[in-house]
Amino acid sequence: MSAQSDPRRPVSQHSPSAPSPGQSAAARRASFPMNAWYAAAWDHEVTRALLARRIAGKALVLYRRLDGGAVALEDSCWHRMLPLSKGFLKGDDLVCGYHGLAFNCQGRCTHMPSQETINPSAGVRAYPLVERHRFVWVWMGDPALADPDLVPDLHWNHDPAWAGDGKVIHVNCDYRLVIDNLMDLTHESFVHSTSIGNDAVAEAPFDVTHSDRFATVTRWMRDVVPPPFWAGQLGKSGNVDRWQIIRFEAPCTIAIDVGVAPAGTGAPEGDRSQGVNGYVLNTITPETDGTCHYFWAFARNYRLGEQVLTHQLREGVSTIFREDELILEAQQKAIEEHPEREFYNLNIDAGAMWSRRLIDRMIDAETPAATLAAE
Ligand code: FES
Ligand SMILES: [Fe+2]
Repeated sequence: MSAQSDPRRPVSQHSPSAPSPGQSAAARRASFPMNAWYAAAWDHEVTRALLARRIAGKALVLYRRLDGGAVALEDSCWHRMLPLSKGFLKGDDLVCGYHGLAFNCQGRCTHMPSQETINPSAGVRAYPLVERHRFVWVWMGDPALADPDLVPDLHWNHDPAWAGDGKVIHVNCDYRLVIDNLMDLTHESFVHSTSIGNDAVAEAPFDVTHSDRFATVTRWMRDVVPPPFWAGQLGKSGNVDRWQIIRFEAPCTIAIDVGVAPAGTGAPEGDRSQGVNGYVLNTITPETDGTCHYFWAFARNYRLGEQVLTHQLREGVSTIFREDELILEAQQKAIEEHPEREFYNLNIDAGAMWSRRLIDRMIDAETPAATLAAE
């Protein structure tokens, strides 16, 4: 580990939703920032049918206009709060399923039953939205700050030099537990021992670096026996040089550069031409303090035309992530039973600790100074 990778301090892992006297400032901190692009859906999930989804604590309804563009509105009618997702589309307008108020893509009311004039304040919130890297991203905070350049980089998901696919899973845990899980792949040796994990992962040293928005964990395993998954992908026998370069982009996106090459063929020095390379793409959107939408994909740069391999890899990774899901949900339950407990941090947690520190900085930056001063 590098010297800068050791931000030792207790990490508050639990929700701040019900602060009590004596709780630390960290424990009262919100669990996610609002000024961030969050993946709300895969591109194919947003259609002319209404999709209801809670993002960062807010109920949204998503749909596509007739020209194909995606729209995200507050899922609550201005009139009597029926979720608009229970209504229907009329052209590009969304009509409430209770008394028929209609709202356009900007959330402005365009029709009220039995009256000529429309109350000028009638409307619902429309969320800034960008479609990129096969995901529909929404900005949940101050719309004036919604800069499309800040959409997290997951370009491998649509780059023609890569092939892959993924899924979304709903996980009953704080999104930060998924981030902890991905920032320390030591767990592969124990949770995924039949596929991608073996002793080499837990034994290899690693290096952690960070900037204001990124934290990176780099682990090289030289001249090791490949685990079953990678032996199969490489299609050659013998030891390998294996890499895992985990890049966290605050607040909740992680792209992991993974692969193996025959040992001694120069991969650690930069020549990966004899090996196989994949990217595990993850963005974990908080739904509530204790639940999340986990969007993931696996992209590869070999055998690009083989659709059957794309299918097999997606289903294989799905099975692996199911192993994580069981761990994460059990961990969340234990945390909820003991909200007073804080985590212990080991060397292996350095990447996760930096991720949490960058998340906390984003949350603090949007917390009014008066609130922080009162703590
Ligand atoms: S609740 Fe939507 S129109 Fe009345
Ligand atoms: Fe895992």
